[in-house]
Amino acid sequence: MRSDPAFPAADRRVGAPVTAVTDVVAAPADGSPARRVAEFLLSEELDTPCYVYDAARAIQRYTALQAALGTGVLISVKANPNLELGYRLEHVRSGLEVASWKELNNWANSPNVFLNSPAVDRKLLRAGIGANVTFVIDEPRLLQELSVAAGGRTIRPVLLRLNAVTLAGVGMRTGTAADHFGMDWEGAREAVKLIRGSAGKIQLGGFHLFGGSYSFTRLGSAIAAAAPEMIARLETLYGAPLRAANLGGGFSEHWEDDARAFAEYRKLLRAIPPHVTLYHESGRGIFAACGVFVTSVVRTKRVGARSVAACDGGIAQAFLLAQTENPFRRLRSPYIVRKTPPVGDPIVTDLVGSSCNRADVIGRVDGPALQPGDLCVFADCGAYYNTYTVAPFLGLKEPSHYVIG
Ligand SMILES: Cc1ncc(COP(=O)(O)O)c(C=O)c1O
Repeated sequence: MRSDPAFPAADRRVGAPVTAVTDVVAAPADGSPARRVAEFLLSEELDTPCYVYDAARAIQRYTALQAALGTGVLISVKANPNLELGYRLEHVRSGLEVASWKELNNWANSPNVFLNSPAVDRKLLRAGIGANVTFVIDEPRLLQELSVAAGGRTIRPVLLRLNAVTLAGVGMRTGTAADHFGMDWEGAREAVKLIRGSAGKIQLGGFHLFGGSYSFTRLGSAIAAAAPEMIARLETLYGAPLRAANLGGGFSEHWEDDARAFAEYRKLLRAIPPHVTLYHESGRGIFAACGVFVTSVVRTKRVGARSVAACDGGIAQAFLLAQTENPFRRLRSPYIVRKTPPVGDPIVTDLVGSSCNRADVIGRVDGPALQPGDLCVFADCGAYYNTYTVAPFLGLKEPSHYVIG
């Protein structure tokens, strides 16, 4: 690309994320993305710190989750907002769940978008109406605002977001405390009343119940078992059949490890009346295992008995690796790609980032001493690692994003 120094090419501005499709390798279909990227890095260069996403792996995980559930699966964009990767899933996905203005802006032209946020304001309402999304209503009064904002325009039938405490109302003893999302049964009754009083302007499509991240093992069966009664109750209040229910998900990064749970779960889903279209939604269950984080060792040193390798990426680019929210911090070990043979005795080395945060320790390596130029490849970093983060600190370099496969 030609570039006049006075007019630098847009994609090479300092600090701008670099996004490129890199058909890395025709590796075996079962090769893990981290392994494939580590092999690739032996002979090729990537601009670190960076994320590499394996699109084929994301598609495979999405279709496998859809098959394991036997329902539509909405992609929770928040887990990985990379547009290029999102486009690669376009031909397989049943729909998308967006939760913010920016997410809606990115995906407004896609079919079957669900807008789900407890903090929908007038601007977001109007944008959602314009984009013809399905609104997931977090509290009853939002319906009045929706009706006013819509004016004469048609709105897709809405879903009511039910809080997990509604499970107790249909006889499920889950011991789940209320979080701040959605409504209890009293709120749901009020919402249905408002819908009925809207003279047909707003219709009730169904409900949405998300038990929280990682909740599938704990709450999945209770939600599926409660769904027929919840549908019946809402249909009685509304006086007409529901069309859809989103039973949430809360699937872990490696949900596929528990195949038996899915078989049992599918049996429960069979009791849900067939006129209701079922959805689940997932973020980490699709994206986590398809992405890796790569950072280079810049310098190494000893501090007392401790061996430290300072890297060009850390807490600022891959927040979750630092595990600041985890009371039992178990640092992860990346693949190490060495461009030169290792020197020195094996040693335990802490991998630290380039911020001045004491918590900026993202991994630990037990092996031959690291050297500047060595690359650290962390598996399972495709969901939330970059976005679920503190505000950019020190103006440090943004991670690049590559989509492969
Ligand atoms: C309503 C809702 N749906 C789905 C998700 C995605 O969760 P996960 O990535 O754990 O699948 C979230 C995460 O915050 C959420 O709030």
